Amino acid sequence: MKVHKLSAGFIYFFGALGGLLFGYDTGVISGAILFISKQLTLTKWQEGWVVSAVLVGAILGAAVIGPLSDRFGHRKLLLLSSIIFFIGAMWSGFAPDFLHLVASRIVLGLAVGGASSLIPTYLSEMAPADKRGGVASLFQMMIMTGILIAYISNYLLQGLTFGWRIMLALAALPALLLFIGGWVLPESPRFLVREGKMLAARQVLAMFNNDDKLVEAELDDIALQAQTKSAGSLADLFGPLSRPVLIMAMGLAIFQQTMGCNTVLYYAPTIFTDIGFGISAALMAHIGIGIFNVIVTWVAVMIMDKIDRKKMLIYGAWGMGISLILMSVGMQLSGTGKFGSYLAAIALTIYIAFFSATWGPVMWVMIGESFPLNIRGLGNSFGAVVNWTANTIVSLTFPPLLSAFGTGNLFYLYAVMCFISIWFVHKFTIETRGRSLEQIEARLRHRKNHLNDEPVAN
Ligand code: BGC
Repeated sequence: MKVHKLSAGFIYFFGALGGLLFGYDTGVISGAILFISKQLTLTKWQEGWVVSAVLVGAILGAAVIGPLSDRFGHRKLLLLSSIIFFIGAMWSGFAPDFLHLVASRIVLGLAVGGASSLIPTYLSEMAPADKRGGVASLFQMMIMTGILIAYISNYLLQGLTFGWRIMLALAALPALLLFIGGWVLPESPRFLVREGKMLAARQVLAMFNNDDKLVEAELDDIALQAQTKSAGSLADLFGPLSRPVLIMAMGLAIFQQTMGCNTVLYYAPTIFTDIGFGISAALMAHIGIGIFNVIVTWVAVMIMDKIDRKKMLIYGAWGMGISLILMSVGMQLSGTGKFGSYLAAIALTIYIAFFSATWGPVMWVMIGESFPLNIRGLGNSFGAVVNWTANTIVSLTFPPLLSAFGTGNLFYLYAVMCFISIWFVHKFTIETRGRSLEQIEARLRHRKNHLNDEPVAN
């Protein structure tokens, strides 16, 4: 097997690039839907379908594409995802009617879900232990960049009759780039060792480390854990070895969504319009938030390997919970004067900062790095399916809950979820920072063998 020598930066960039399509395809629709709805004369119900079709597709994509990586490796499936991205983007851009649009958005969702179940593990398996958190957070960085590009294209193309078609079809460009990247990217050294391709694995590890001795030691560690050659099954995923990680992944994936990240982002333009920004200025403010998001996520990339993941989750949940309460208070006061609206806008910005620096990236990093090697793909995939399902439920319940409770009160509900998540993190998560993937797995084995001696969390 031929391994091209590439720089670590190149591998990280193309390895994370699928996140850009994830962000773009989920972000673009909020702007495009207004125009689509007018031109294709959609009912409210049909609008809902066009928006949530990606979510439905993503659940399917995460369930089907991710687990295959334990058998075929990540590279081939990243290539497959890029082809699906390309077809979905072109099809949705040229969709003649509602049905084509929904079908093409489901296809896009397949690729988005696939990317979310492949990339965190791929990046984790590529990076050296002391850089793994930062490298795997590049996935979230790409998601945020994709969302920002979507906001900008929404803003620039808003006046054009067929602007929405360009908005949707534009995603074909990064899909092409991902295809080229997928073609030249190496397979992960962990997968290569499991396949018995030791020479290729050594060559890939050497791209990230100049010290031959360290490369050799890492290779030995991987070989030790890779003794189970076959790809694991669902029985392994639910078995006693990976159970603590399974509970952790499920909880993190559910809380990340039920703490309200997508509804707050969705609500941002309305809050800015309430303060008195015009529609266009509110959309500009939206772009401002997009830029802010990218900057804060960059901070997360820099600090990820310096602060324990559990601490980041706990600080993040406090910050998000408190800002949600302030946001609700602000919204309730907004009828009585400008103070309330400003309070809501500032609290919203602080909420987003906490999310982007903590729960946004950390959830994906942890589900990508914590499962044992022979079910790592399956485990990441499971976490992604739970996350997309929670995302779909939160999106679908948002409109009815909003009319039942009103915005102010609804955000209190998400704040409660933030505070419950703090308890969950204390009790059920396992610290992974600074440990190699092999050390994380060895600790799981140790824990399984001493089930009665140790508490589940540490
Ligand atoms: C979440 C998505 C969210 C995105 C941007 C990701 O970590 O999983 O649901 O849309 O961040 O906020």
